[in-house]
Amino acid sequence: MLAHLHSWRYILVMYNWKSCLICFGVFTFKKKYELYCSPFWCLNGLSEEDVRGIMARSVCAKSAFELWGHGQTHTELRTSLLNYPSENMSPFMHKDSTYRINVYTFNKTLAFADRIKRIDAMEYLPFKGTVSLKSPQHIFCLLEDYGTDPNNIPEHPDYIYFGRWIADGQRELIRSHSVKNRHFIGNTSMDAGLSFIMANHAKVKENDLVFDPFVGTGSLLVACSHFGAYVCGTDIDYNTIHGKGRSSRKNQKWRGPDENIRANLRQYGTEKMYVDVMVSDASKSVWKEAALFDAIITDPPYGIRESTRRTGSHKDITKPPDGIYVESHVPVSQAYHLSDIFTDLLNFSAHHLVMGGRLVYWLPVYRPEYCEEMVPLNPCLQLISNCEQTLSSHTSRRLITMEKIKEPEELDSLAYLADPRFSPYQGHNAFREKYFSGLNKRGKENDKSDFNG
Ligand SMILES: C[S@@+](CC[C@H](N)C(=O)[O-])C[C@H]1O[C@@H](n2cnc3c(N)ncnc32)[C@H](O)[C@@H]1O
Repeated sequence: MLAHLHSWRYILVMYNWKSCLICFGVFTFKKKYELYCSPFWCLNGLSEEDVRGIMARSVCAKSAFELWGHGQTHTELRTSLLNYPSENMSPFMHKDSTYRINVYTFNKTLAFADRIKRIDAMEYLPFKGTVSLKSPQHIFCLLEDYGTDPNNIPEHPDYIYFGRWIADGQRELIRSHSVKNRHFIGNTSMDAGLSFIMANHAKVKENDLVFDPFVGTGSLLVACSHFGAYVCGTDIDYNTIHGKGRSSRKNQKWRGPDENIRANLRQYGTEKMYVDVMVSDASKSVWKEAALFDAIITDPPYGIRESTRRTGSHKDITKPPDGIYVESHVPVSQAYHLSDIFTDLLNFSAHHLVMGGRLVYWLPVYRPEYCEEMVPLNPCLQLISNCEQTLSSHTSRRLITMEKIKEPEELDSLAYLADPRFSPYQGHNAFREKYFSGLNKRGKENDKSDFNG
């Protein structure tokens, strides 16, 4: 076991490894304990620069270390550390360097005296520099893993690691961008942590153009603008787009004069990335026929807290006989079926994403009936990942990430229509339609508070 683990070069303390893999590509990794969800992950196949790059983006990872040694006991750790090549250690331990050793424990709090004991016990390492607690050049960490069961904390750690600290992740963003302190919010404003995860899944980067077709209060635009993307969005709701109407805050009846998406970006210093938002129905594209967006990232309405409406369609109007002109009347709004929302979203993304651009969105799920075939597909988009966020025993939502791999013009439309895996361009497959209508009905009856949309 030890010999096998010796080849792992880095260790990350993280809260969602799957998300990191989706965002930052393929690298080999080993979870220390396969049986439970350990936050310690050993990685290989990355340079230190790669690790810094991941940590500069990830809200799922807490810290990353260069792994120098590990073991089930302190004796095993010592053996492992003494086998670590001295040429790898010496650049960080020479006599002109300053350093500090930290002790991190997972699932247990150690008394100060015990921490000091642990540090003193590391004296077998050839540190030649000077200790500096305030501003050391190098930080080393002893990490003790006491499992994940708070009701059954072992006396001794299950596993111990020692390494050189490389970087911390961006977990601070979850606090600094919390919707609790956000200028403009609504009933379904997306949580800050999830918004950053979505922006990472979409690989949003500097100077990208990102679009949210169900923009609401713009939480996803806030996260994307933080990573340097220009952002725009649409919403069917006039009041939301113009920051008018009733406030979602407890002690406030009406929205204030500057409660809008632009002000949200201003709050975080990214107003210059704001392109615009407009009132528009996502079921009727107003965009010119061109690949415009580097990423489309959105949280569509599920019809539970937000109604799923769209503007009326011309096909509902009785056509007058030829030669007779009658000014047409478009019904104000009609139901927007869930399966149509997702079919339209995928179809829109197939047409308006640049090649390689990503669509990231939430799909509501009724767990007892869910199977992978429920996930809408489109032949121009490749499914990259499908991660579940459980909401209750029977409901969840799935974060779907897709990447554009083909232009719609390249499709053989007849073969496409005949392929049962894909929803037809217009309309939807009967199986999914039944699933979505059941979901919508059950959601309204049973899960009013579960879904955020
Ligand atoms: C779940 S909310 C999005 C919340 C948003 N992510 C935020 O952080 O505030 C869904 C939004 O879709 C909008 N919507 C509903 N039907 C729509 C349609 N047909 N076209 C465009 N927007 C629509 C609703 O007004 C609502 O603001």
